[in-house]
Amino acid sequence: MKLKTKNLLTLSDLTKKEFNQLIDFSIKLKKELKKEKTKPLLKNKTLTMIFQKPSTRTRVSFEVAMFQLGGHAINLSSNDMQLSRGESIEDTAKTLSRYTDCIMARVYDHNLLEKLSEFSAVPVINGLSDTFHPCQILADFMTIKEKKRKLKGLKLAWIGDGNNVCNSMINGCALAEMKMSIATPKGFEPNRRVVNKAQKFTDIEITTDPSKAIKNADIVVTDTFTSIHNRDPKRTKKFIPKYQVNSNLMKHAKKNAIFMHCLPAKRGSEVTSSVIDGPQSVVWDEAENRLHTQKALLVFLIHA
Ligand code: CP
Ligand code: NVA
Repeated sequence: MKLKTKNLLTLSDLTKKEFNQLIDFSIKLKKELKKEKTKPLLKNKTLTMIFQKPSTRTRVSFEVAMFQLGGHAINLSSNDMQLSRGESIEDTAKTLSRYTDCIMARVYDHNLLEKLSEFSAVPVINGLSDTFHPCQILADFMTIKEKKRKLKGLKLAWIGDGNNVCNSMINGCALAEMKMSIATPKGFEPNRRVVNKAQKFTDIEITTDPSKAIKNADIVVTDTFTSIHNRDPKRTKKFIPKYQVNSNLMKHAKKNAIFMHCLPAKRGSEVTSSVIDGPQSVVWDEAENRLHTQKALLVFLIHA
């Protein structure tokens, strides 16, 4: 299985067919793992991970993915690299390409990933930038497919901040032909260019009314109101209480709707404990599925 793209910087690097193949392959890899039948598909391959920002799930799931597939992962904080002393991205990319088979980077500025991929001879994966989080959304759509048995035609409601995860979710809905309704306060809408592009493929609604967005939704999603790159300490006040996903708001969604959150969550802020710990929540499967989708992605990119 091969991807047309060398890198995965945003989900729009993928075709619809590739997106669906990645999800189906992830489901297969998950089943193989549960039966203890994982094949060493990345034997002797190495992934370099660069983190400018903190991480729990991304770091651990990529590292475990490489280990379980017979490969190895190297974890680097950008502060410990010569990058922090002024070595250029260009020289860093060229050097790392001589040692490893793939680079995953979590960065602030998305342009840094573009530069890294331009000068890297090996695939570059976006492990979150200020603008996108494609790996998260692969895991989210795998989770939706497991729970709903289909993607096309479902309605997904995004409540809260139109942030990096939201931008990637919009790309995902366009690829999956799922309807998306986004409720954000004024001034916190997702990237306009991402929305305009996605609207050519599916129905993307933007509103300031959470109960309108969530009406008849099959999937309800939120994320922290303060992302790592946000600096304004008063930011959260613009979202609470109207944009909190709580049991009252969930009543407007379909009865069998699922609740998703990429984590880390701030209970009592963007979501209440009653929802995130309640029967509709699938957040732990969602977190686990990072492992399976990243395995699929690594195999597709490294063997391309
Ligand atoms: N969802 C996610 O990317 O989590 P981490 O920040 O812990 O990697
Ligand atoms: N929007 C969050 C996601 C964390 C996984 C952030 O960028 O901090």
